[in-house]
Parts: sequence; structure tokens; C-alpha cells
Amino acid sequence: MAGHITDKGITELGVGLISVGWMGKLHSRAYQAVPVVYPELNIRPRLVHAADTAPDRVEYARNVLGYAKGTTDYRDVLADPEVDVVSICAPNLLHREIGVAAAEAGKSFWIEKPVGRDAVDTAAVAAAAAAAGVTTSIGYNYRHAPAVERIRELIANGELGRITNVRAVFFNGYASEPNGALSWRFKKDLAGSGALGDLLSHVVDLMQYVVGPISDVNGLLSTVHRQRPILPMGQATHFAVIEDGELGEVENDDYAAALVRFAADSPAAGAVGTLEASRVIVGPQCGLGFEVYGTEGSASWNFEQMNELKLALGRTGPNQGYTTILGNASQGEYAAFQPGPGNSLGYDDLKVVEAKKFLVAVTGGEQRNSTIEEALADAEVIAAAAASAVDGQWHHVPTVPGATFGHRRETVGSNA
Ligand SMILES: NC(=O)c1ccc[n+]([C@@H]2O[C@H](COP(=O)([O-])OP(=O)(O)OC[C@H]3O[C@@H](n4cnc5c(N)ncnc54)[C@H](O)[C@@H]3O)[C@@H](O)[C@H]2O)c1
Repeated sequence: MAGHITDKGITELGVGLISVGWMGKLHSRAYQAVPVVYPELNIRPRLVHAADTAPDRVEYARNVLGYAKGTTDYRDVLADPEVDVVSICAPNLLHREIGVAAAEAGKSFWIEKPVGRDAVDTAAVAAAAAAAGVTTSIGYNYRHAPAVERIRELIANGELGRITNVRAVFFNGYASEPNGALSWRFKKDLAGSGALGDLLSHVVDLMQYVVGPISDVNGLLSTVHRQRPILPMGQATHFAVIEDGELGEVENDDYAAALVRFAADSPAAGAVGTLEASRVIVGPQCGLGFEVYGTEGSASWNFEQMNELKLALGRTGPNQGYTTILGNASQGEYAAFQPGPGNSLGYDDLKVVEAKKFLVAVTGGEQRNSTIEEALADAEVIAAAAASAVDGQWHHVPTVPGATFGHRRETVGSNA
């Protein structure tokens, strides 16, 4: 087991961070919040060593986030014997190199989605992690929203009946400005696909976690703004707008869609659906949402109203249509954060839940963390959508051994 147990029974874990951008900051805050939100775990993460190629971000990690050491070479973090677990928050291009190196260094890691630029990258990281026997966790944070956990449970208990169809979207306006920065996200060699890997991967992960494995995909891609002003690596964020900047080519998709079928040999057999993502949409800002329809009821959720679950149960009776249910202790990890119903959780809290699940798994507890096998199963769906967008054909998604998404066959759904 990683870490050090004190004479008071506290497990101390040294944390290494690779890349101090938006996600690097959030992972750091999440580790610091774990003992506050979950004191009963007796886990104390200690921020030990942070790396970023941008020296000012290394300084920020040391002086503001509180890391004891800083470096511009991520290898220093992996070689540090005081580092027990590593957060990998680098751009997609680096996930493969750093993920494999972390596994080879014997460090368990929490890596950001979509784990590489494509399924080949994700598979390489998965193989290295399996060979080294390290624990992995993936940044698919929307799974941890209390309302999402509740919908998953309703489906697993059969309360929505047989699931017939889903409609899921991630409509995010971060690049709706034509002068929005050409960050690494718009370059094929740095990011892989565009909205497909960046945004639809979240939708795919949610649907495989909440409903079941996706087996067949028909995809569609389009690019709306073909040039944007260049933003150097390590500056600003992908929300930046640059006036009169030098233009560069957008090399991947702004919009992605997929028709999907859920696996015939799974509890979601027979279910079909539509998935969509856009990074240039005008209106929705962080509109990650889904509707799940069953023969006995339906449920709907959108991140922009993260603390509201819309639920319809039964085909007849006096209460037809959706009822809105506010966050409460019956939903996922809600009670760890708030003592009463109707108080809200936010985006950063989802990262705290993610950090908790990772550290519990690392210290030999319950395995409720998302895994690299599940990230590979998501990447295979994305790869099938990309291939289908080229040839216009339906593509079958290969099964990834070990990618269970926590589903237990005997309890999920009622598709008999
Ligand atoms: N889970 C989510 O909801 C979510 C949200 C945003 C981003 N992400 C993912 O997180 C990852 C990072 O995204 P971000 O928005 O934080 O990016 P960002 O651009 O804010 O930060 C990336 C950082 O990596 C640094 N970097 C570049 N090359 C490096 C190297 N060789 N070694 C160390 N650091 C290096 C940059 O200087 C920068 O500070 C991506 O994979 C992205 O898809 C996930």
C-alpha cells in the first residue's frame, strides 16, 4: 500500500502534480479538501512536488498551492521517493508518455480525460498500468454529481423499467467566439480530435456509467470556425479571446454527434440513443445533460442545474410529467458536503469526490474510482465515432476486459 501510516493511524500520502493549468489547480485543491470533507477516512495527502514547463506556474504551485518542491521537468516528480501518488493534468499529447512513465516508476496516478489523443494512446497507458499493478483514476468528474449517481441507481433498481432510449449532449460555448484562442485543444498532434475527444468523451463516459456499455456507433463531425488566433502553450486558458492575433488553422472538429446502440449482451440491451457535443455553441455554456427514457419512467439532468434531478415515474396516475428533486442525502456523496437538502454542490466538489475515490482505492479500500480500462472503453467508442465519420458506416466497439463501470449484471436494469 502506498503512503505512510502515523502512530495515530493516519495514512499520509505524498502527492506529485504534473502540469499546473486549470485541472492541476483543481486536483491540488481536491486533495487538500479530502481530509476536511471525509475526516473519517484518516487520509492526509501532502503536496510534495509539482512540475510545469512554464516557470511561473511552477512558482504558483510552490507559493500559492503549497507544494514543497517545484520543477520544470516532470521526471523529477516521478523520481521523487516522497511522492506516492501522481496527478497527470498535462495536455492530451503528453498523457501517453507521462502515464507510461508514472506506471513504470510504480506510482499510482489520477489522470485527466480523455487519456491521450486516441484509443491507441489510452491502450498504451492501460497496458503499462496493468503491467505495473498501479491504481488508476480518470478525470471523468461528472459521474460524481449526486443526481447522476441517483439516476444510475434508479436504472440499476429497475425503477425506470426497460431502458429504451437516451438523448445526451455536451454543449459548451468555450470556443463560440471566432476570435477564441487557438489553444492546444485545436491541434491534432497535441489534442487528437476536437469536441469529439474533449467533450463527447464525457457524454460517452456518463452513458456507459449510468446506462451500460455502448456496442455500435455511427458518427458525424463538423468544423465551424477554420482559423483562430494562436495562443502559446502555458498561457491563459482555452476560454481566452485574442483580438488581432496571428491566425492558425483549426485541425479538428468543433461539433461531434453519434447514434449509438447499447450492447445486446448487457442489461441495457435494446436501448439506443443520440449523443452530441459542440464547443462553438451559442447559448449553452456548460450544458452537459442527458435524458434517459424507460418503459416505466424517465430521468433528466443537466450540469447547468447540477443540483436538480427531473424524474417521471409511472405511465398513469395523477402526477404525470417531471417532478424536480433537489439535491439531498439520498443522492451519491451529497451528505458528505451538506447537512441539509437543497444546498448546492459545485464543479470543484466533483473533483473532491474524485480525489476521495482515488485515494480510497490507492489505500486498499473500496474500488469506486473510474479506471484506465473504463477510459479505454470510452476511447474505443470515440474511435468508432471518428472512423464512422470518415466512411459513413456503423462501427462496432471492441469490448475492453475489466471495463465494468461498476455495473453488476444481476442488478442493473430489467431488460428481460
Ligand atoms: N475533467 C474535466 O472536466 C476537464 C476539464 C478541463 C480539462 N481537462 C483535461 O485536463 C487536461 C489539462 O487541461 P487544462 O485545461 O488544465 O489545460 P491547461 O492548458 O490549463 O494546462 C496545461 C498545462 O500543461 C503544461 N505543460 C505543457 N507541457 C508540459 C510538459 N511537458 N510538462 C509539464 N507540463 C506541461 C502547460 O504549461 C499548462 O500549464 C487535458 O487533458 C484536458 O482534456 C479535463
